[in-house]
Amino acid sequence: MTALASARRPAVAAFDVERIRADFPILAEKAHGKPLVFLDSGASAQKPQVVIDAMARMYRHSYANVHRGIYQLSQEATDAFEKARETVARFIGTPDSREIVFTRNATEAINLVAYSGGYSFLKPGDEVVISHLEHHANIVPWQLLRDRHGIVLKVAPIDDRGALIWDEFVKLLGPKTKLVAMAHVSNTLGTVLPVAEIIREAHKHGALALIDGSQAVQHMPVDVRTLDADFYVFTGHKLYGPTGIGVLYAKAALLEAMPPWQGGGDMILAVTFDKTEFNDIPHKFEAGTPAFVEAVGLATAIDYVQAIGLGPIAAHEHDLLAYATEKLKQINSLRIIGEAEGKAGVISFVLEGIHPHDIGTILDREGVAVRVGQHCAHPVMDRFGVPATVRVSFGMYNTRAEVDALCAGLQRVREIFG
Ligand code: ALA
Repeated sequence: MTALASARRPAVAAFDVERIRADFPILAEKAHGKPLVFLDSGASAQKPQVVIDAMARMYRHSYANVHRGIYQLSQEATDAFEKARETVARFIGTPDSREIVFTRNATEAINLVAYSGGYSFLKPGDEVVISHLEHHANIVPWQLLRDRHGIVLKVAPIDDRGALIWDEFVKLLGPKTKLVAMAHVSNTLGTVLPVAEIIREAHKHGALALIDGSQAVQHMPVDVRTLDADFYVFTGHKLYGPTGIGVLYAKAALLEAMPPWQGGGDMILAVTFDKTEFNDIPHKFEAGTPAFVEAVGLATAIDYVQAIGLGPIAAHEHDLLAYATEKLKQINSLRIIGEAEGKAGVISFVLEGIHPHDIGTILDREGVAVRVGQHCAHPVMDRFGVPATVRVSFGMYNTRAEVDALCAGLQRVREIFG
């Protein structure tokens, strides 16, 4: 384990990718006998040793159910869980950890808002505005609400580079708009949406704003209070943390006003067969035993990321993006899908005449892991008239040499397909 692996260190002076790589044990693995080149962090990021250790330590030394025991182990686990909530709160810029609800993932966080807030704040005929580049997680919950509750779903278009068409977006807003729900960063195109302006515009119309930060928080600093987001969601596993843990940030007043969405233990204060008195926020929204070991793993991942610094991480990923974009463009008949200005470290592309699944399979034989398919964003594929793409998504541990390995793999694809 390198020195970086001890979380809570001050930010390192220079970004040292080799030191960082040494913190991620899986990066030393081989795939098909070749060094692993992992270019699929947008689907799920790898885990540093400190995260693996923090979770193993808790299982070994401090494990008992939270919020339930008066004995020492349970109190230790509860303290660690609530401390993790405070770490998450600080990470996204709220001083009030009651505004952090732990969920299973970002999808569950959006569903929580759609079910709890959707049925109580919205009435039939009210409008929800999303964009054309959303992940299915920010489309389907609103479609379900439309079909079951009669809300109207409107979709703001994107241009040929994958950027939101601002004037068209603004035209969709009106007195019936009650919620604007948009991604911070597109998982498929890498487009960074102007979320501060989107939120301001939503508020001008008296609407609430929900931002899906699943592809953002690991790449750039986010401050929900400065943004004035009403809801901000993200997932742990893309942020170098464990699976099974996600976050819903919501303004405390909204959480207070929203009814619970799942019933059970921990979300109650008192239960009789006649009625139930609900717990305070955020526990009102955390029915059942929460994923508290995962929450501790997530907090450790956040400490790790912050010790390196989101600024240096963003600069490194931007360098990889620029380098890879230039190199990929030199490959015959390769078309990049999504070239919005200021995009994040995601590159989707197609190679004329070769199906993305064939490309992914050949790359895999070369040790290069990329995602191929529709990336849980079918409407984006339709918008660009492609059945699927190859997607490369960078993490802080990727290198220019790995981009070279990708390009060599693509040359191999070309040789095989002619
Ligand atoms: N949403 C994840 C992705 O973009 C799974 O790949």
